[in-house]
Parts: sequence; structure tokens; C-alpha cells
Amino acid sequence: MSELRVDAVVIGGGPGGYPCGIRLGQLKVKAAVVEREYWGGVCLNVGCIPSKAVIHAAKTFDKIGHAADLGITVGKPTIDMVKLQAWKGGVVNKLTTGVKGLLKGNGTQVVEGTAKLGKPGPDGHRVEVDGPGGKTTIIAKSVVIATGSRPMEIPGFKVDQQRILDSTGALALDHVPQRFVVIGGGYIGLELGMVYAKLGSKVTVVEALPSILASMDKDCVGVVARKLKKMGVEVLTEAKAKSWEDKGDRAVLTVEGKDGKPITIDADKILLSVGRRPNTENLGLEDAGVKVDRRGYILADDQCRTNVANVFAIGDVIGGMMLAHKATKEGETVAEIIAGHRAAVDVRVIPAVVFTDPEVASAGLTEDEAKAKGHTVKIGKFPFAALGRALSVNDTDGLAKVICDAKSEEILGVHIVGNGASDLISEAALAIEMGAVVQDLNLTVHPHPTLSEAVREAAAAAIGEAVHIINR
Ligand code: FAD
Ligand code: NAI
Repeated sequence: MSELRVDAVVIGGGPGGYPCGIRLGQLKVKAAVVEREYWGGVCLNVGCIPSKAVIHAAKTFDKIGHAADLGITVGKPTIDMVKLQAWKGGVVNKLTTGVKGLLKGNGTQVVEGTAKLGKPGPDGHRVEVDGPGGKTTIIAKSVVIATGSRPMEIPGFKVDQQRILDSTGALALDHVPQRFVVIGGGYIGLELGMVYAKLGSKVTVVEALPSILASMDKDCVGVVARKLKKMGVEVLTEAKAKSWEDKGDRAVLTVEGKDGKPITIDADKILLSVGRRPNTENLGLEDAGVKVDRRGYILADDQCRTNVANVFAIGDVIGGMMLAHKATKEGETVAEIIAGHRAAVDVRVIPAVVFTDPEVASAGLTEDEAKAKGHTVKIGKFPFAALGRALSVNDTDGLAKVICDAKSEEILGVHIVGNGASDLISEAALAIEMGAVVQDLNLTVHPHPTLSEAVREAAAAAIGEAVHIINR
């Protein structure tokens, strides 16, 4: 049993924990980061990065299929999933191998093993690590819990990565299943459902709520829903997956439809994507006295402080928007606080992007949220179909929507659907953080011909000044 004394220990090396460790090192705090499975967490290994690699491949495949529209003749594309997996693995590898180097390069120690909080001693908090090199007790003044989350299951659907897949299984397939059924029409279900639809699967999405992507702007979701229909993806809303049976050559899924009647669907693979749950079990939270809510998320304030002094929690394990950039913001903020600086997660917006085709991106309030907060709103919309750039790249499904307060004209929310939305949304996030009014976006010169002109024109449309559409 070895002992390590540091000022701060971070449990978990994901996009919350590792940037926290890097910043602690930069701020000259003696720190260690403990990771049990994979450096870079879910995001780099089985989440954001591999999913975007596979989405890119499917998009390329689909574009080749439509090249004839542009007068380009190519043969019918085929996909070698084994080769795609190897390429995806290479992308992941490049990023994950850098994480340990960045931590060490900034003077932060890396410790491999599973960490558990113990009862605090007189000289600080205690974290017991069980690793390949044996057991280590880390004694630290501050602890940052960044243990992330894992997929949720529903009764009757145990993930076996054969018939019932979670996102990790769905990202690792070495073939394209003929019939791919998705339970849960949220981020993962639609991103990966579209991948397999493009690669040739017959895809069905089963969603319990009246709408897919329920948290996103309705106009934007409408564009994605139309695209799904065009692609031949069947979407069953207000439908609940009840049970499934393995028939040897296929799985048969039973779903309770809108009218309460059972519907059966044949499937080769079923992706379960009904949300994620926090990794708080076996962490010693009870010993350390750290409180969780009824769903298991650690309770933390806007400085990510838990109820126990000098124990912080960040990222997916505290809930809210379960996004990598939110985890990173919290990790960097906590490093500042531990180093003695005044800091808090004091942000107006955390942008969100769903990497469907077209992409959906959002910053700030939706129309409904703005109205619920008591705002009278003005709204400007601009369709991608009226954008020279979108036409010239043959990708016109989309729109930008700017919501502002009717009186002050302060921008409250921006929602974009369309390919490129993932990059366009950062301008909106900056505008909202800076308290911009719509004229700030409108008076800023945007380069032509670019997709960013949609954001400017939508802002202009909110005050009746759009040039390339008729203002209403
Ligand atoms: P994690 O990334 O979960 O990292 C936690 C780490 O802690 C893990 O490495 C785990 O091994 C380690 N750990 C846990 N317990 C212990 C312990 N006791 N001891 C030691 N180590 C421990 N977000 C986006 O913003 N954009 C995207 O495009 C996006 N795509 C996604 C696609 C998929 C398929 C999935 C599943 C998620 C995606 N996300 C995306 C969400 C994103 O991955 C998470 O929000 C993010 O990884 C959370 O970061 P985290 O650091 O809180 O936790
Ligand atoms: P999700 O919360 O996005 O969607 C889950 C969906 O499943 C919801 O629409 C819900 O109504 C539905 N559902 C729940 N129970 C159901 C049932 N029994 N039958 C049918 N439908 C049911 O969760 P998802 O897709 O699993 O992703 C988890 C999280 O990971 C996301 O919320 C997001 O935070 C993160 N993520 C982010 C991505 C990005 O930023 N681009 C991409 C992928 C994941």
C-alpha cells in the first residue's frame, strides 16, 4: 500500500476531469488525476469523437450516392465496416494518447485505478485507489468527483451488445444490420439511427414522447423529422418499448403504440438510447457524506461545491446538460477555485448540437421557454434555401431562427438547423454571453457567400430588415 499526498485529486479522466487536472497543474496546484478505464472518458473513447467519425463516414457515403445531381458519375458506393472501424479507432487513439501527456506535461500526476472516497482524516480527504500497480491512498485537501455517466436500461431490455446494443455497441458494429431499431429518439438514437439509415439499414425509431428531440426548437426538429421521412426512417412517437423476443434469425420487439395497441417490429439490432445515469455507485459517497438527489446525481452549486467542504463534483455526474463542453467548463472553473481564484460557472448559455443530418444547434432559450419566462418575443427566421452558399453546396435543408425580447431586442435564443449549424452556433453563444441585441448581429458584416449569413439575416428578419426574404 503506497501513499500519495497532493493538494487536489480528481477522480475521472474524462472531458471534465482531465482539463481540470491540466488547469490545476498550470495554476501550480500539486494534483493527481485517477482514471480506471480510458483516458479521455466517454467523450474521446466511446462518445463524441467516435460517433462523429462514424457520422462523417455515413455522410460521405450518402453524398457519393447523390453525386449524380451534380453531374458526377461514380459507381454505387459500398462500405467496409471493418475498415471504417479501424479508421475510427485511429482517430480515437490519436486523441486519447495525448491526454496523459498533457497532464504530465503540466506537472499533474496520472494514477491508473479505481478510486473510492474514504472517511476524511485530520490531514485531509482520503481517496483509496485500486490499480494495476496495487493499492494507493491519496490524501488531498480537495477532491473533484468527475466520474461521468453510463447508459440507462429499461425493464426487459438488458444490453448484451448482440441483439440489444447501447451506443458503445452500436458504434462498434463490423457490419450494417438489415433492420435497425432505435428505442429513444433523442441525441444518440437519431445520430446513430441516421448513420445506419444512410448505410442501408431499414431504421425504425420508437420514442415515448409526442416528439423526437423534445428539448430542441420545434421548427428545427420539424426539418429533421421531414428528412427522416425522406430517408425512409419510420418514427413512432408516443410509443413505448415493452418487451422483445429472440427468434433466432431476428429479434421481435413489442411496442405499445399511441392507441395503446401492441405493435411488433422485426429487428436485427436494437439500440437502447433512453438516456444516461450518473456513476455514483461504489464511490464511497456515503463514507464521505456527499449527498445525491433521488436519481443519484451529486448535488452541487454554481461553484460545483458539494455539501462537503472541499469536495467538488463536475460533469455528467451532477446532471444538467450532459455535454462534454459543459463538463470541461466546470472542470476548468473548479481548478481556478481550488487555486484560490474567484470563479463560478457563471454562463448564460451552454450551446447544444445534435449531429443529425441536418445538424440541429441551439444556444439560449427556445420560443416556449422565453414566453414561459414572461418575455414578449420577436422572432426572425431565415431559410437555408435562400442562401447562395447552401444552394451552391447542394445542402438546403435548414433555417436559422433568432428570438429576441420584443422591447429591448436583446437576443434570448438562437436555433439553427442545417449542415454547418454545429459551427455557426458559437457566434450566437458569444452574442448572448455579451448581452447583444439583434442589431449587433445585423450590423456585423458577415462574409459572402457563407452559411453564417443565415444568422445575420435571421437577426435582421426579427426587426423586419432581412434583405433576401420578404419580411413578415
Ligand atoms: P465521462 O466522459 O463519463 O468520464 C468519466 C471518467 O471517469 C471515465 O473515463 C471513467 O472511466 C472514470 N471513472 C468513473 N468512476 C471512476 C472511479 N471510481 N475511479 C476512477 N475513474 C473513474 N457530448 C457533447 O458535448 N458532444 C457530443 O457530440 C457528444 N456525443 C456523444 C456521443 C455518445 C455516443 C455519447 C454516449 C455521449 C456523447 N456526448 C457528447 C456526451 C459526453 O460524452 C459526456 O457529456 C461527457 O463525456 C461527460 O464528461 P465527464 O468528464 O463528466 O464524464
Ligand atoms: P436523450 O435524453 O437525448 O434521449 C432519450 C430519449 O429516449 C428521449 O427522447 C426519451 O423521451 C426517450 N425514451 C425514454 N424512455 C423511453 C422508452 N421506454 N421508450 C421509448 N423512448 C424512451 O438520451 P440519449 O440519446 O441516450 O443520450 C444521452 C445523453 O448523451 C444526451 O442527453 C446528451 O446529453 C448526450 N449526448 C450528446 C450528444 C451531442 O452533444 N451531440 C450526442 C449523443 C449523446
